[in-house]
Amino acid sequence: MKHLLSVGDLDRSAIEQLLELATSFREVTRREIPKVPALRGKVVVSLFYEDSTRTRISFETAAKRLSCDVMGFSVASSSVTKGESLRDTVQTIEAMGIDAVVMRHSAAGAPHRVAGWIDASVVNAGDGCHEHPTQALLDLLTLRHRIGPGIDGARIAIVGDILHSRVARSGAHAFAALGADVTLVAPPTMLPSTVAGWPVTVSHDLDAVLGDLDVVYLLRIQRERQRETRFPSLREYTARYGLTVERAARLRPEALIMHPGPMNRGVEIAAEVAEGPASLITEQVENGVAMRMAVLYELLGAGGGHG
Ligand code: CP
Repeated sequence: MKHLLSVGDLDRSAIEQLLELATSFREVTRREIPKVPALRGKVVVSLFYEDSTRTRISFETAAKRLSCDVMGFSVASSSVTKGESLRDTVQTIEAMGIDAVVMRHSAAGAPHRVAGWIDASVVNAGDGCHEHPTQALLDLLTLRHRIGPGIDGARIAIVGDILHSRVARSGAHAFAALGADVTLVAPPTMLPSTVAGWPVTVSHDLDAVLGDLDVVYLLRIQRERQRETRFPSLREYTARYGLTVERAARLRPEALIMHPGPMNRGVEIAAEVAEGPASLITEQVENGVAMRMAVLYELLGAGGGHG
């Protein structure tokens, strides 16, 4: 594997191999000194054209725990503000000697373009409304450690602003690749015009599916990507699609709750639900480091890399 741009780059056995590797790195992250020399001498650049807390910090932590050198890049203090193009920026950085670029960009497809311009490996850390493959992988890792190695037949609903969600696209394909039964739940205005090619069923009624679910995966309303209002009001959205305390009480006792973050507490999820015993939200963040260690090792370890 040279790049990780899309969940579609991975078949079931490649996903399972990454999950095995990430499980071994989970053990490393729990050691007193959570660091191994596996990628000593490799250089990873963190190239974020869009804001991030979880993804950026966990990739940088993952790279450091593998003993990589990490180069940070801040758009606001770079020559991007003087009009330097994406191509010139990445080729300039590559000339300094790098092995991998971890990249987030508001334009769908930007990491794919960059992968064609440079020799280093490219990891998509979120491209516009398109994909966020490592989020899907860390979510699978989280489920594996809660409900066991197989999620075959697990009933997972991804709820909310599917239209603008790169997490939904990557998650739906990754969950289905491992045999889960995925339902997208959203008002028609928050769904793509077609879900042809998505391995999912669609519902507009959360209450109708709630009692059958093993996992409720909530999405943030992405107001920064919405050019027009998709729902009359946030209060109305919460009334129809929010995981309120009352709705959470109607879930099966063993059902689990996930959210990629950042959350809008009180909109798509009640604060009490986010902090309750069924919530995997903190575990998702914790597993992000181990899964990103696995991805970097897969790309740069065992003879990989270009430095
Ligand atoms: N889940 C996620 O991608 O969060 P950040 O935007 O904070 O990286």
